Amino acid sequence: MVLITGILGQLGYDLSKELTKRGVEFIAPSLEELELTTEAGAKNFILEKKPETVVHCAAYTAVDKAESESELALTVNGFGTRWVAEACREIGAKMIYISTDYVFGGDGHTPYEINDEKKPVNVYGRSKLLGEDAVSMILEKYFIVRTSWVFGINGHNFIKTMLRLAETKNKINVVNDQIGSPTYTADLAKLLADMAATEKFGIYHATNEGFCSWAEFAREIFKQAGLDVEVDGIPTIEYPTPARRPFNSRLSKKSLDEAGFNRLPTWQDAIARYLVELKSKNN
Ligand SMILES: NC(=O)c1ccc[n+]([C@@H]2O[C@H](COP(=O)([O-])OP(=O)(O)OC[C@H]3O[C@@H](n4cnc5c(N)ncnc54)[C@H](OP(=O)(O)O)[C@@H]3O)[C@@H](O)[C@H]2O)c1
Repeated sequence: MVLITGILGQLGYDLSKELTKRGVEFIAPSLEELELTTEAGAKNFILEKKPETVVHCAAYTAVDKAESESELALTVNGFGTRWVAEACREIGAKMIYISTDYVFGGDGHTPYEINDEKKPVNVYGRSKLLGEDAVSMILEKYFIVRTSWVFGINGHNFIKTMLRLAETKNKINVVNDQIGSPTYTADLAKLLADMAATEKFGIYHATNEGFCSWAEFAREIFKQAGLDVEVDGIPTIEYPTPARRPFNSRLSKKSLDEAGFNRLPTWQDAIARYLVELKSKNN
């Protein structure tokens, strides 16, 4: 049996759909049943249910807010993950921890390899790195899966924001000097379901294929949605946010290839399928 944390989030929700499709038995605790700010809240449900695998999708994900709520972000993503890992060790479960491109500093222009230096530039990145360190120190049977620029049907994301802006604007400014890879949670969920069925433990990078800037991402969304919105690319310095972001979020897929896991489809293909999903949900 698989236990999914954060089932109401973008990834947790799509993972639950994927496991259902595959006929894999899973349980998904509510926030009352598994809450990551206390040790008992994080551990008791797992210890009681004794799943074979825990896919830890729940996290404090508000990147900008984390700068002013650092204690909460560090507790949920750092300690919360540590407690989940300790519970997994106690019952002998494997753990899949979802992490982020934001553990890296964003220097250079080449894709980060899994063991490259970690140098988070914001509180959220530091908190997720604490989670990674806890998982790798406490467990032997673990996967750390770093993803980036996530979008799914169940939650807020960049695509939904762009489509909302298009209702009132025909020209917008979008940052063009941060480069990374969008990731559709429905695609990532398939890979996680594949991983959960193996013992190929390790650290992986998993995003949709290809790289783009946020401005290119926005242009592709408008193009595919048939919306006539002009996107002006601007440098990050002209779009100040509470949290700094890494400029280079490219992630190398070498360990994924070496383990024989399938890469995800391209980010353009993912947008196309996501827009269809959004449309069918809204109808
Ligand atoms: N979103 C991205 O762009 C991105 C990029 C890289 C990596 N990731 C990682 O990918 C994973 C999935 O992201 P996502 O976008 O699916 O996240 P999401 O939509 O924000 O969902 C996160 C889930 O965690 C739950 N949660 C938050 N605080 C909690 C707490 N104290 N105790 C228990 N549950 C709590 C949330 O519940 P409530 O809704 O009730 O608060 C929500 O169900 C996360 O680990 C995230 O760090 C995300």
